[in-house]
Amino acid sequence: MEKNIKLGLVGFGFMGHCDADMLADFDGIQLKAVADINPAQLQDAPKGVETYAGMDDMLARADINTVMISTPNPSHLEMVEKAAAAGKHIICEKPAAMTVEQFDRMTKAVQKAGVLFTVHQQRRWDKDFRIMKEVYDRNMVGKPYIIKSQLYGFNGNMHDWHVFPEMGGGMLYDWGVHLIDQILNMVDAPILSLYADLRNVINERVDDYFNILLRFENGVTAEIELGTYYLTPKRAWFIGGDKGSALIDGWDGEGKIVRTAHLLENVPNKITMTAAGPTRSFGPPPPGLLLEEPLPEVRVSHRQFFEHFLRAFRGEEEMMVKPQQVRRVLRVMEAVRESARTGKAAYPDSEA
Ligand SMILES: NC(=O)c1ccc[n+]([C@@H]2O[C@H](COP(=O)([O-])OP(=O)(O)OC[C@H]3O[C@@H](n4cnc5c(N)ncnc54)[C@H](O)[C@@H]3O)[C@@H](O)[C@H]2O)c1
Repeated sequence: MEKNIKLGLVGFGFMGHCDADMLADFDGIQLKAVADINPAQLQDAPKGVETYAGMDDMLARADINTVMISTPNPSHLEMVEKAAAAGKHIICEKPAAMTVEQFDRMTKAVQKAGVLFTVHQQRRWDKDFRIMKEVYDRNMVGKPYIIKSQLYGFNGNMHDWHVFPEMGGGMLYDWGVHLIDQILNMVDAPILSLYADLRNVINERVDDYFNILLRFENGVTAEIELGTYYLTPKRAWFIGGDKGSALIDGWDGEGKIVRTAHLLENVPNKITMTAAGPTRSFGPPPPGLLLEEPLPEVRVSHRQFFEHFLRAFRGEEEMMVKPQQVRRVLRVMEAVRESARTGKAAYPDSEA
């Protein structure tokens, strides 16, 4: 059995360059070749890495055992089918496919060829997500009832091919696939129902805002909200449980866990005057009632995606990003579109 990955990368644009940089000094993975239809992209190919004007010639190389597909979304299906037919293992960029139907054709092709197939869901190794997954897995705020994952920006206009629906543009295909994948990797339970809103706020042709509510069978509700024209830029998380709240506001996992020193059980009726009038439940907390704790420490990096892939390639562990997980995320994305269109709930886990 081969021990090392000899990689050919197709699509040497933004992501192709990011991955080539990450793999520049990576024990066990050697970048052998890059292919791109735009010659300008190949000009700064790393030294010693062969360049190709298209994928086909690169696939003919016997010394390449794995192909990474980093081209725009609609091209993934044909490339996965070709790479599988050439007997190469495959890492495909996200979203792997535009539809579940396309994805099923991909999995059929890789199964027939007997090659490994995974998708570059590298945001499973984001620090903010990992911290919140740790909070959730270790019941650090007790039994959770709500998880919120929020991403807001100010750059409402999309760039490059992301403005074209036929190219797989829009934010659901771009960040949505990551944010949904993160939640499904945190909450290990069937989805009872989904309700979603998907809008074109300032982009005419592609979505630039979504709000997705997922109700899980284990009692957890997750809300994922993204807006590119929200004008209060932030990456934030909240988990509410029956023993505290955990919150993050920032890409580096800046945040805290908050608990109450004691539960206020049927306290005497005390009225606080606020600008909005009197309240008995929402006045400021008495001093000392709210206690803050640090969030758990995590050590994480996007390199870990490739470290896990290498171990799976060597047969040392299961593949981390599994085709059935990728398919479920695509199912959820289709349910988001359906719910946004009908205004009704959708049931992505209830398909025949
Ligand atoms: N995993 C992540 O975090 C992440 C981040 C960004 C982008 N992506 C994904 O990576 C993929 C590429 O996105 P990008 O931002 O790098 O786009 P990009 O436009 O910067 O790069 C795409 C490259 O593919 C080339 N290309 C197009 N058709 C080709 C073909 N038939 N054969 C060979 N080369 C071809 C283009 O010339 C271009 O250089 C998309 O699927 C995107 O969703 C993933």
